[in-house]
Amino acid sequence: MIDLRSDTITRPTPAMRTAMAEAEVGDDVWGEDPTVRALEEETAGLLGMESALYVPSGHMANQLGLYVSTRSGEEVWAHEHHHLIGDEQGATAVLARALPRLYSDGTFPTDALLESWIAGRGDVHRAEPALVWLENTFTGRVVPLAEQRRVTGFAHRHGLRAHLDGARLWNASAALGVSPAEVANGFDTVSVCFSKGLGAPVGSALAGDADTVSRARRGRKLLGAGMRQVGIIAAGALYALRHHRERMVEDHERAAELARLVTDLSGLDARARTNMVLVEAPGCQGARYAEVFARHGVAGLGMGDAVRLVVHLEITDDDVEKAARGLAKAAAEL
Ligand SMILES: Cc1ncc(COP(=O)(O)O)c(C=O)c1O
Repeated sequence: MIDLRSDTITRPTPAMRTAMAEAEVGDDVWGEDPTVRALEEETAGLLGMESALYVPSGHMANQLGLYVSTRSGEEVWAHEHHHLIGDEQGATAVLARALPRLYSDGTFPTDALLESWIAGRGDVHRAEPALVWLENTFTGRVVPLAEQRRVTGFAHRHGLRAHLDGARLWNASAALGVSPAEVANGFDTVSVCFSKGLGAPVGSALAGDADTVSRARRGRKLLGAGMRQVGIIAAGALYALRHHRERMVEDHERAAELARLVTDLSGLDARARTNMVLVEAPGCQGARYAEVFARHGVAGLGMGDAVRLVVHLEITDDDVEKAARGLAKAAAEL
């Protein structure tokens, strides 16, 4: 089976395992784990931020990003398909108790939308807006940096904060050929994942200014996620950060090749976006298509009108060809 369900399924490489086995560790709740400190410093440096905090998951990094920038009952402006909204078990309501105000078109809010939402501010009926949320990449799509700057500029002009869910910021940086700091530029907080395209086994980070990150550190402890000799896993993330960022363009090239071969060989409508290929499955048949693909040796994720195929560091050129041939056979049964 060629497993293209997600870039989270990768296992640590032998070199990464060695780095983990040899990691220097200490009690991180007391700030004494040198490997975690190195990871946090390097992450902050790459993102052009003052400080960063290692956390167990992207979900927690996002929730802490929300927690440090909103008070109970304040609004966070987001897309209905952002991970924060649809994939974090409604934690916005449970933890920070923020109120999502959602748009559903495009990949970023237009000026007209932002202006109309800010217009109601101060109305006694309305919740107070506090935070604008973006995601880059967003289901594999790169949000142009000019659009990000327009949105963060708007937020700051109106006294709101801005957060970037950068679970796949490394992919956006590789695809745009710019530094991670350029992608993170303009945001008050940024969450990044080490356990997706970078291929580390565990962990994410929240980055921002020193005061914000120290509040997030307290929030992490509040949630019971103060971790002790956690350098043992942070070492995998640090290894990934140092050795797997530049190779991400290979994943993007393989995704583009997979989309091209699938379109040519099967006639299915397949489009590549960074490391993801979306195969159209009209009529909300994503789950059914994914079942048929699996019978032909390709595991994908059915998502409504599409099947998502994600290229990651365990996928070779040979796998790409085999997957495309498998999908060509599957197409005959759809
Ligand atoms: C855009 C985005 N943000 C956040 C997350 C959450 O990451 P984690 O699975 O580490 O909680 C994911 C996970 O797939 C994601 O795709």
